[in-house]
Amino acid sequence: MTDNHVSLNMNVRGLEQSATIAINDRSKNLDENGKHIYRLGLGQSPFPVPLNVVNALKQNAHQKDYLPAAGLRQLRQTVAEFHRRKDGVEASADGVIIGPGSKELMFILQIVFYGELMVPTPCWVSYMPQANIIGKKVSHVHTRKEHRWMMSAEALEEHLREQNDRYRPRILILNYPSNPVGCTYPEEELKAIARVAREYELILLSDEIYGQLHHRGRHVSIARYYPEATIISGGLSKWCGAGGWRLGTFTFPPDLQWILEKMSVVASETFTSVCAPIQYAACRAFTGGISIEEYLLHCRRILSTLGNRLATMFNDAGIEVNSPEGGFYLYPDFTRFRKQLKQRGITDSRALCEDLLEETGVAILPGASFGRDAKELTARLAYVDFDGAEALAKSKMHAVDKPLPDDFPEKCAFNVIKSAQTIIDWVKG
Ligand SMILES: Cc1ncc(COP(=O)(O)O)c(C=O)c1O
Repeated sequence: MTDNHVSLNMNVRGLEQSATIAINDRSKNLDENGKHIYRLGLGQSPFPVPLNVVNALKQNAHQKDYLPAAGLRQLRQTVAEFHRRKDGVEASADGVIIGPGSKELMFILQIVFYGELMVPTPCWVSYMPQANIIGKKVSHVHTRKEHRWMMSAEALEEHLREQNDRYRPRILILNYPSNPVGCTYPEEELKAIARVAREYELILLSDEIYGQLHHRGRHVSIARYYPEATIISGGLSKWCGAGGWRLGTFTFPPDLQWILEKMSVVASETFTSVCAPIQYAACRAFTGGISIEEYLLHCRRILSTLGNRLATMFNDAGIEVNSPEGGFYLYPDFTRFRKQLKQRGITDSRALCEDLLEETGVAILPGASFGRDAKELTARLAYVDFDGAEALAKSKMHAVDKPLPDDFPEKCAFNVIKSAQTIIDWVKG
């Protein structure tokens, strides 16, 4: 009702809470009312923050001063060094800005950048609502199931050709490994996309928040092939298990320094600076080292083992899904069951997820929340409803260069396996 209030800005009328946050609140509510909920809705890392990073935070609890709007100098240096080391790209402290989550930095980027936003779909839930809040124009590059729901360089080129406006200022957001799909781009595709981007003078926002969770530790940044106009987006939320710490980073090339500078000005007039103890602790995280690399090896192996098991379960049951390559998501497609679902009154992805939650307690998000036509029967499943600390401890009992035992998913992520089976049984009716 308040949505129609005359004093509400037009851009936020009809805007609802972010789908991932909403499903979490809804799940909590149902849980408190006695219904067991399988929480595959919110994409939160199941793993604890590495102990040495937690200790760094404790040791810096006394840091109380406001920090520079662009971030603590030492952290900016450490982040630049992280990208040089991990991604093999040129990066300098001056090109790094620290924000309260990469989400906020994306919002500010959209505020300061005049041009259009281009987003391949399915895409992360917040890119488009942020653009809507600001009143920015968004164009979608739709992907196809046959192409693993990832954008091809040809599709991008075709989209740009259709726009027929060669030098319109545009930012293209690329996210890989992908939320919601769980796949990533092969190096050749990154090169081909980079070629098109260069031809059309696009700015790329390369959202690599799941880069360190590439299941084989082989993440490649497109900044290698398009260094002059790629902004790398990252942070502590996913690979370091610290979503609630709220620390994100953008790393700019020298040619785009003008954007960073204006973002710092907006930061100084809005959030001022990111919480000081968190920034000091983040220096420890981005410095890395043997214990952090080991932690990552175990996280990746657990996620890969579990994700692949789920993909096999779904595919065997006729629910098509790509095998995951990074992060902790799957994007199953229920199209083959369209007829049976229709008989139960389910004709779109929203109804599918609503009914599934009501009838079985399994919370997943509809494809419609990721920029797809609601009529597509797709959904995103975040396979994170397990005790990450326990899974890490058990994984450490097995040599890191060997696969985990076959029964690992049942032993360490029983709820996730059970919820996948519940989805399959429910869909099959
Ligand atoms: C693809 C993607 N990008 C960005 C974010 C934002 O992360 P944060 O603001 O915690 O850095 C998320 C969080 O779920 C995400 O999945």
